[in-house]
Amino acid sequence: MAENNTIILGIESSCDDTSAAILQGTKILSNFTSTQLIHEKYGGVVPELASRSHQENILPVVETAINQAGIGLKDIQAVAFTQGPGLLGSLVVGASFAKSFALARNIPLLAVHHMKAHILAHFIDDASSEKPTFPFLCLTVSGGHTQIVLVESHLKMTILGKTIDDAAGEAFDKAAKMLGFSYPGGPLIDKFAAQGNPDSFTFSKPKIKGLDFSFSGLKTSILYSIRDAKKENINFVEENRFDLCASIQKTIVSILMQKLELAVKETGIQRVALAGGVSANSELRKELCKKESIGWKVYIPKFEYCTDNAAMIAITGKFLYDAGIFSSQDVAAKARMDW
Ligand code: KG4
Ligand code: ZN
Repeated sequence: MAENNTIILGIESSCDDTSAAILQGTKILSNFTSTQLIHEKYGGVVPELASRSHQENILPVVETAINQAGIGLKDIQAVAFTQGPGLLGSLVVGASFAKSFALARNIPLLAVHHMKAHILAHFIDDASSEKPTFPFLCLTVSGGHTQIVLVESHLKMTILGKTIDDAAGEAFDKAAKMLGFSYPGGPLIDKFAAQGNPDSFTFSKPKIKGLDFSFSGLKTSILYSIRDAKKENINFVEENRFDLCASIQKTIVSILMQKLELAVKETGIQRVALAGGVSANSELRKELCKKESIGWKVYIPKFEYCTDNAAMIAITGKFLYDAGIFSSQDVAAKARMDW
């Protein structure tokens, strides 16, 4: 059994954020992220540029995390890194760094699943919020994934439903691109939606049965609505920006909430958590919180642990460390990774 105060260095580099964190026990001592702004103008993450930026950033980011934590190199007892899923060229930078670090310091290496880490961020010490009790359901919504997960323990998780095409974050980002916003557009839709009427426009919702999701039909529906309206009024998007954002956001959130309601009904579990970048969305948070009035117990992550961060990698590393699940030096980064 591991001691409770183990100090773990966490490293995240699966997409366009280079992040490092220092965890002691379940307490975060530092969590430092460098976000690559270079992708904004391309309307999406350019893998080659992301990989190159990670290489430039990884050392200063780790140094900053160590300095901010007020510890020395020799205090670090294990290193956790994102093994996948993600962009391979980005993942290998974090994986190679973590492997070298573990080898040089002769400390254990912990390979972390990025999506599980989003969920386990709920177990980071935080005086302002309660930790979920098992079993609970987690709606895990990011740029690449949309899942409803049954979480029975820190290490036992089962996917009950997932997207068959685009992820919820992708739906936000692609809609934002149609409105002329830079990448990632999700946060901008959220911001502008606050000033719009969510009932101004109606977009088609998927009719897919069960707990799986689909967002590609919605994307086409938004595209065609904008195209047709622009034939009448070339300034349609500019003149209706706020209402379009509010209506798009309402549609995406209602698709997510409908499936979550079904999952609660089917499993009888009323403890529900949110995880992943889209859990920063204010409408989704609001709609989920409303469910407390009908008996749900809702867990919403702190903003800093919603989008990609190394704190969630470090806490997942802690649970692997406690369970004695260590990786060898031949562990490889994986763009696609089994659950
Ligand atoms: O988890 P994350 O940081 O990275 C991935 O693992 O993909 O999620 C990024 C996604 C992007 O699609 C971004 O647009 C979305 O999260 N996102 C939001 C908001 N903040 C981030 N979507 C809607 N509203 C937000 N406030
Ligand atoms: Zn993520």
